[in-house]
Formats: sequence, C-alpha cells, structure tokens
Amino acid sequence: MTTGSLLAADLVIAVLAAAGWLGGGAASAGRRRPLALGLVALALFATLARAITITALARAGWWFAAEKVLVAAPLSLAAVAVAGPRLLRASGDIRSVAVPLLFAGYAGSAGLLVTVLHGYPASAGVGLLAVAGVVAATAVTWRILDARPSPTVSRAALAVAAAALVTGTGLAVTPNAAPAVPHDHGYRDTQTVGEPTRRFTLTAGTATVSVSGRDVAAWAFNGQVPGPELTATVGDVLEVTLRNRDIARGVTLHWHGYDVPNSQDGVPGVTQAAVLPGQEFVYRFRADQVGTYWYHTHAVSDIGVRKGLYGVLVVRPAPVTGVDVTVAVHTLSGLALPAPRTEPVEAGTPVRLRLINTDSTTHRYALAGTPFRVAAMDGSDLRGPTPLVDTAVLIPAGGRYDLVFTVPATPVALYVDGRAVYSTGPVSAATGAWPVLDPLGYGVAAPVPWSRFDKEFTLVLDRGLDLRGLLPRYAHTVNGAADPDIPSQVVRLDDIVKFTIVNRSQVVHPWHLHGHHVLVLTRNGRPATGSPLWLDSFDVRPGDVWEVAFRADNPGMWANHCHNLAHADAGMTLHLMYS
Ligand code: C2O
Ligand code: CU
Repeated sequence: MTTGSLLAADLVIAVLAAAGWLGGGAASAGRRRPLALGLVALALFATLARAITITALARAGWWFAAEKVLVAAPLSLAAVAVAGPRLLRASGDIRSVAVPLLFAGYAGSAGLLVTVLHGYPASAGVGLLAVAGVVAATAVTWRILDARPSPTVSRAALAVAAAALVTGTGLAVTPNAAPAVPHDHGYRDTQTVGEPTRRFTLTAGTATVSVSGRDVAAWAFNGQVPGPELTATVGDVLEVTLRNRDIARGVTLHWHGYDVPNSQDGVPGVTQAAVLPGQEFVYRFRADQVGTYWYHTHAVSDIGVRKGLYGVLVVRPAPVTGVDVTVAVHTLSGLALPAPRTEPVEAGTPVRLRLINTDSTTHRYALAGTPFRVAAMDGSDLRGPTPLVDTAVLIPAGGRYDLVFTVPATPVALYVDGRAVYSTGPVSAATGAWPVLDPLGYGVAAPVPWSRFDKEFTLVLDRGLDLRGLLPRYAHTVNGAADPDIPSQVVRLDDIVKFTIVNRSQVVHPWHLHGHHVLVLTRNGRPATGSPLWLDSFDVRPGDVWEVAFRADNPGMWANHCHNLAHADAGMTLHLMYS
C-alpha cells in the first residue's frame, strides 16, 4: 500500500471510528440496545484498525503521523478506556453508557479534526484545544442526559475546558518567529545584457476568442490564446515589452522555467509591481539556455493563467533541422486547447514535439505509431534517453517534455488524455492502458555533483485552517502555515541546498521553484537511477517524499510554490531568499 492510500484509508477509518462512537452514544441514549452495540463494535474495530494505519504512517515518516500519534491516539485510548469498562458493566439500562460513548465519540472527532483542520506539525496548543473541546462537549452532554448530574463535577469539567481553551488558543495562534512578508527587495541587477536582438510586444487585455467554434471570454496577450509564441536562438537578447490594456487586477510576465535574473522574474510584490491598465514594463534577458519554456502572468495568477494569459517561449540551438512543433495544452472555459491538427510529414524527417502543460493539473500524453525518445524535460536535455514504444508520459502542471522521433512511413498521433491533438495522418490507437514512464529510471545516470549540503529544508505540504488573515480560510499549507506567514528559506550565494518535500495531503502538488532548476535525488526513499533530472516542475503526489537539490547561483527573492495555481493562491507559496 502506498503512503498516499494509507493516508486516505486512515482518514476513512478515523471517520468510521468517530461515527461509530457517536452513533452508539445516540442509540444508547434512545435505548436502542442492538443498534448501540453494533455501532460500538464498529467503533472498536475501526479504532483497532487505526492503530495499524497510524503505525504504518509513522514508519513511512514522522511527518505523516505526528498529530495522529500525539493527539488522536491518546484521545482514542481515552475513548476506549472510558467507554469500554462501562459498557461491560452496563447489564441493565443501556442508556447509562450514553455519556461515556458520546465522550468517546467526541474524542475520536477531536483527533480527526486536528488532522483535517490543523495537520502538521502537531503542537501543544492544538492538543490542548482538542482536549478542551472534548471535555466541554462531554460536560454539556452529561448535564443534558444524566438524571443526577453532579454540579461540582460538571463545573470542574467546564473550568478545565476553559483553561485548556485559553492556553491552547494562546499557544496555537502565537505568530511565527520569522513571519515573512516579501516585498521589493533591492536585488536590482543592473548588469546590462547587451543590445536586444529579438523584440516583442505583448499587450494584455480582455478578448473574445474562438475555441472549437465557440466564443469564449478570455484574457489574452495580443488578442490570442495562447499568446504569441516567442522564439529565439541561443545567445539572443530578448526584449519583451508588456503592456496592460484593461486587466484591472494587473499583469506581469513570468518566464516559467527560464532562470532569468531576479529583476526580470515577474512576480508582483516580490520582483516588481503588477503592471496596471495603461502601464508597461520592459523585460530584458539573454537567452542562454536552449529548450522549451512558457510565459504567463503572475498577477492573480490562478485566474489570469486560467483565462488565457500565457504563451510559449522556445529557445533553439543555431541550426534547426526537421520539424519542430509546440503543443501547449490548456483548458479554457472547459474547452481543451490546442485544436487538433493534422499535417503530413515526409517519412524520415526528424520531429521534435515540445509538450507543455499550462494547466494546474497533470495531463497524460501518449504518442502512437512510432518509437520515440524523451529528449528533454523542463528544458534540460536528458542523458542517454532510450527509445520508448507504447508508453505514456505524465506531465505535471507547468512541466515540459520534448519528444523526438523520426517520421515512419505510417501516420503518427499524439494524444492528450485520450484526445488526438497532433497527427501526421489518420490514426486510431487506444492508448489508455499503456504503461506510464517513470522519469526517475529513464536514461543514463551520472554521479550527483555534490556530496554535502550547506542548507537543508523540509517542506511538509498539507491543508489547514488559517485564521491569520481577515477571513478564516481552509488553506493549502507548508509546515502548517500559509502565505504570507510561511518563513522564507534563507540561503547564501553558492550554497548547495537540499529540499525534502513531503505531501501529507490528499491531492497532488506540482512543485515549482523560480530561478533555479533542482536535481532530483530521491523519491520515497529510492534514489533516481536514470539520467540526471533537472526539473522546475514536478508532481509531489499524496504520500510522496521527494529530495531535490540545487546550487544557489541566482541571487534574489524567488517564489517557491505549488503550481496548481489555486493552491498557490490559497496559501501554498513561500520564498527563497539570498542573505
Ligand atoms: Cu509558472 Cu510562479 O510560476
Ligand atoms: Cu498544490
């Protein structure tokens, strides 16, 4: 069983246990003996099963089990210890065990709530809040249900609950030692990049675009979705003028995967101010990395990118031979882009398909009709990629794969999630059952260039209630905090930095660090055995633990976030900062 399915199973079992106790309590209050006993049996069974899932999760990594071991397990033990003996002694009126059973139910629910609302890391404050809730709820229940409640005992219980509530709240909402509200930082790189050799102008504005015959209200660069394809030859100096016609919430250009100087990175509030209607901003950088990239707005990025403010950036080596096609997949108002296209290509021609996922979730790509190689991922060439046949690839949000092949005499087709988007002729292939490539084992290995790390950071991805803002929100969190309260990770120039990224949530988090490419070291404890993978976007699935490393060679203040942009907006953004 994977850690991801263990996490899901544990959650279901915890719900069953809490529901069993609560239902058992309610049934016994209503003197429905068989029902009460059945539900209690379910609760006991689930509590036992949970001992197994919690132990397994703790073995997979303390991050996955901390609050379960420290809060939920003691509460469950208390539940069994209080309810069990009373149940055995309750030979007569089943109603006499209603309060202990409900206590067990509250204890189980409290443990569950700590996992769902707070998660990692467990803290004394949260533990106390959980205890306060259980004691208060039990005291109230007791007053209502018991014929002879003792006023002293119930008053004492409420006092304990109040004390735990106050202390717990105090401990739980103490601000972080180092709250990080990034702002304009002064890494003004004034180095000149030389005279521009490629000039572009992108004007952002609201527009109506046509997608498969339907008119869609979009936000577009130069009136089109995707925006114009920006191409350059390695060595060019790009100058891109961004204008905003009427996007009220502002726009910027972020060069996704392109490790530009910090001042050109396009993150509003961090490297520049958002460009408001009527304003412009000029980006200039040298195209010194070849490969497949994309650009997108980083102002209200979830909405902005979804509505169409994105485009392709391709930097090619000087002589290009063969056919070179970009396929930037996007979902615009529920409609899939790009529109399918068929173009015959002469047999023997080399083809490079540049696949780009500009959505916030993973897409599955399958190339039918020819063996192919994955020549590059996220703009970096792979070492010794071997031919693949009838194999699908999963590209994370923001990620890019370059597939190369030589056109055979028979047609070839590329499918995205089962839909043909590019073909050289009529093909019908069922690709749904194909195996999926694991990039960590593909190509030829090379030794990791570093043996020690100057800085190590762990990012535990989760969900949690965030009460620090104006309105409470159910945030996507990193180490229990949400943007802007996640402390920045501080490095020095030339540090070798290791990130351990742990996903204890139920959803995929495509991780994306700006300004750097990270080398994948391990996933779930297993070292990468294939070509070195220098990625800027990788899917951290539920239960996954990734170890990646990079050299801190690009000074500035860099966003480091989940590229499911709705998650990034809902708190899952932090910053890498050079001291
Ligand atoms: Cu493509 Cu900060 O993102
Ligand atoms: Cu995410």
